[in-house]
Amino acid sequence: MGYPMLPADIANLRASLLAWYDAHARTLPWRAPPGAAERTDPYRVWLSEVMLQQTTVPHATPYFERFTARWPTVGDLAAAPDSDLMAAWAGLGYYARARNLLACARAVADDHGGVFPDTEAALLALPGVGAYTAAAVAAIAFDRPANVVDGNVERVVARLFAVETSVPAARPELKRLAATLVADDRPGDWAQALMDLGSTICRPKSPLCLTCPIAEFCAGRVTGEPERYPLKTKKAARPHRQGVAWVLRDGRGRVALVRRPDKGLLGGMVGLPTSDWTDTAPGAHPTVAVDWTEAGAVDHVFTHFSLTLTVRAATGQGDFIWMPEAEALAALPTVFRKALERALAISAP
Ligand code: ADE
Repeated sequence: MGYPMLPADIANLRASLLAWYDAHARTLPWRAPPGAAERTDPYRVWLSEVMLQQTTVPHATPYFERFTARWPTVGDLAAAPDSDLMAAWAGLGYYARARNLLACARAVADDHGGVFPDTEAALLALPGVGAYTAAAVAAIAFDRPANVVDGNVERVVARLFAVETSVPAARPELKRLAATLVADDRPGDWAQALMDLGSTICRPKSPLCLTCPIAEFCAGRVTGEPERYPLKTKKAARPHRQGVAWVLRDGRGRVALVRRPDKGLLGGMVGLPTSDWTDTAPGAHPTVAVDWTEAGAVDHVFTHFSLTLTVRAATGQGDFIWMPEAEALAALPTVFRKALERALAISAP
């Protein structure tokens, strides 16, 4: 297939992919069935898209179900106390997104009468809504012909057009090429069809070209190595950091937590008290003077570094947020949940 693609080929490719979507669309709790006249509630579309930016469909789905059961409308979410929302988000990662989520819900409730605006430009003006989310909500909730490009779509397009530039530099070109495929007919289904193709057929490793509905249009397939696309610039190795986490328990089922500063990693979340996280083994001081027991260590990988936290456990008192352990396990970001579990595993209450 040539590059750029001829309009007739684009029309055939679109028809093939939409027909495949009609037959094979995944059933997802935020999704209207293919071709449905009624679009999904924009609140549900927005919420799902924000969650799915940092995690997979299987991981995000139970969070989505819990959020929509607890906060059925954007007005309900806007009225939630910050700490409830942060606790419910625990385990999804990228905690600044949770705060942006609340800021956006409050803007929709306060400035738009609780109704999401229905154009890409107006969505983009909401706090915390970036180009991807605005395009996704405009297309999926309002059937606007927006160009929705996530990592899955980038991969499909890079293969389809055999783009020889590496990401991240190729991103603007991939977006431009994706835009050539968008049309006024069924834009919401089109966006989701590309996403489903990317996650079920045009997979990062071992793409299933034999069952791909648009294989005949794919320049990447002709090269014999479609999985080579998108080309990637070699990344610098992720640095490693170390620190100490202190699990202080009061002997009555509660654990000592601190609220992390709003700015910075895991901002605004509750966490265990820890030392600084540094490149060398920390010469850290316990936050309170009690006898600490070594409870081993936990590893966690963040976007920009990996971390080993040595866990120390003790019983004592102090000026902390004292939270029941079961509640803490649910409200803590994953790295601290792992550390707390480690301490609970070595010692009885
Ligand atoms: N990934 C991101 N958004 C999605 C959606 N709406 N459906 C399926 N997968 C997605």
